[in-house]
Amino acid sequence: MSTFLVFGATGGTGRHFVKLALEEGHRVKAIVRSPAKLAWIQNPNLQVIQGSITDDPLPLLDECMSDSDYVVSMVGDARMQMQSKVNTAFVEKQLVPSMRRNGVKRFLHQAGGLSKPYKEYFSPYLWMLRHTIARAYAGQHADNEAVMKYLAEDAMDIEWIVHRAGIGSEGSKGTLRRSPNSESKFSVATFRDCAAYNLKTVQDEAAVHTSCLSCYVD
Ligand SMILES: NC(=O)c1ccc[n+]([C@@H]2O[C@H](COP(=O)([O-])OP(=O)(O)OC[C@H]3O[C@@H](n4cnc5c(N)ncnc54)[C@H](OP(=O)(O)O)[C@@H]3O)[C@@H](O)[C@H]2O)c1
Repeated sequence: MSTFLVFGATGGTGRHFVKLALEEGHRVKAIVRSPAKLAWIQNPNLQVIQGSITDDPLPLLDECMSDSDYVVSMVGDARMQMQSKVNTAFVEKQLVPSMRRNGVKRFLHQAGGLSKPYKEYFSPYLWMLRHTIARAYAGQHADNEAVMKYLAEDAMDIEWIVHRAGIGSEGSKGTLRRSPNSESKFSVATFRDCAAYNLKTVQDEAAVHTSCLSCYVD
């Protein structure tokens, strides 16, 4: 049994992540803005703590971190991210320092497939989508790209993993696998399948220090 400290647990991906982790017998600590949104899950292994990543300092962060094995962030607020890089500020100023203080190594951050990986290949097709139909998410991509830059430049002591997810629907379509950027195979997956991928991948040594896309196993 492992303990997962989760951010974004009330969101499209996060709520599936919490459910799947609990079903596998793990403990989950979820720091959320609205605890009532997780009232549908009754499980003694779930601890829900109220907080926002924009709280500085975020109360109870160290306490939650101290006995966690893995940190998983699936946070997004497209409107707020148009104004400010809230994910980056939180990861850089609060999350990673708390991980260091508490000796927690492994962190998975979910970004989008249309966020450019830091100093790595980014296909022209994804670039075109990013600047046309996905323009409304420009702030979210800029924020998640700044997270990737910070992790690569200043946090190589942390075993970080970035999942550049593509998500388009509910349900399940199969099993996702990691798709190296050089391969650029990309699936528009479901929230549940991305959550299952995150749960598997955060525990995968081979994924450390990668910012891969994901695609369905053929
Ligand atoms: N949705 C997509 O199509 C898609 C596609 C590819 C990648 N992604 C990426 O995946 C990540 C998560 O997306 P998602 O669609 O699964 O999530 P989502 O449904 O947009 O939900 C976002 C989650 O973040 C939480 N959150 C937002 N601001 C917060 C704050 N200040 N403090 C604490 N929690 C906060 C929300 O809490 P509340 O419930 O309180 O609002 C919610 O749990 C994002 O980085 C996004 O760019 C999304």
